[in-house]
Amino acid sequence: MDQTNLYEFITKRKSIRKYDLTPLDQDTLGSITSYMHTVKPLYDSIQVDMKLVSQNDVNNLLSINAPHYIIVSSEKKEGYLTHVGFMLQQVDLFLSSIGIGSCWLGMGKPSKSILTTSELEFVIVLALGKSKEPLHRMNISEFKRKPIEAISNVHEEDSLLSAVRLAPSATNSQPWYFIRSGDRFHAYCIKNNMVKAILYEKMNKIDMGIAICHLWLAAVHTHKNMKCIQDMQAQGTLLSGYTYLTTLQIQ
Ligand SMILES: Cc1cc2nc3c(=O)[nH]c(=O)nc-3n(C[C@H](O)[C@H](O)[C@H](O)COP(=O)(O)O)c2cc1C
Repeated sequence: MDQTNLYEFITKRKSIRKYDLTPLDQDTLGSITSYMHTVKPLYDSIQVDMKLVSQNDVNNLLSINAPHYIIVSSEKKEGYLTHVGFMLQQVDLFLSSIGIGSCWLGMGKPSKSILTTSELEFVIVLALGKSKEPLHRMNISEFKRKPIEAISNVHEEDSLLSAVRLAPSATNSQPWYFIRSGDRFHAYCIKNNMVKAILYEKMNKIDMGIAICHLWLAAVHTHKNMKCIQDMQAQGTLLSGYTYLTTLQIQ
């Protein structure tokens, strides 16, 4: 599977919360594991570990029971949460493309025995399995999302930002704002008050990586590349209620 095929699932995917608890067959598990090893990193220098485990290896506080979970751990370096969001969203779309349901689980925690097998920091869980509900959305109108003008300075149809708009986020908060300036997209993340920050800061950074993944897939779809840069001018631009994260250059 190359990234071009993932793009079409941006407009179809949805979070699946009801699973057939029968384990997936070995072939399917094998292709998921192989795919996990091919996902593109956002930053080359951060080590990430994705483990495909079974039902009993996760203590799920929100009780979404699935036959399998992917546990993601990472080296704790600058940008690591956004990096994980970028990588795991490729897996989320891949699963959707092979007919398997999935759901990000910010509240999921791996069991102690799994945690001690990794020296990296645990970041997040993705539930997966055969869906007991319709797997795909049939129409973009089924997505509950902010309008494009609420998430960017662009007020007309823009295929790149339309893909960003459909990205999933924790509690569907859609914490992103993109300022487009030619081929540069400056990414900003919402600033939370102190109470909300405790709950959402980590998730918001993961969400930003998911949105950037959708931007990248839309760029690849139009035969362009994406480069992550720091833009001093954008960094210095004050956008009320938001913090500058990074700039994506699409060429
Ligand atoms: C980082 C992250 C954490 C999430 N955590 C949970 C969770 O703990 N429980 C849950 O039911 N859904 C969770 N979700 C799913 C979101 O609620 C869902 O993506 C959002 O409401 C948009 O819906 P959609 O994915 O169906 O388009 C999470 C999503 C993300 C991106």
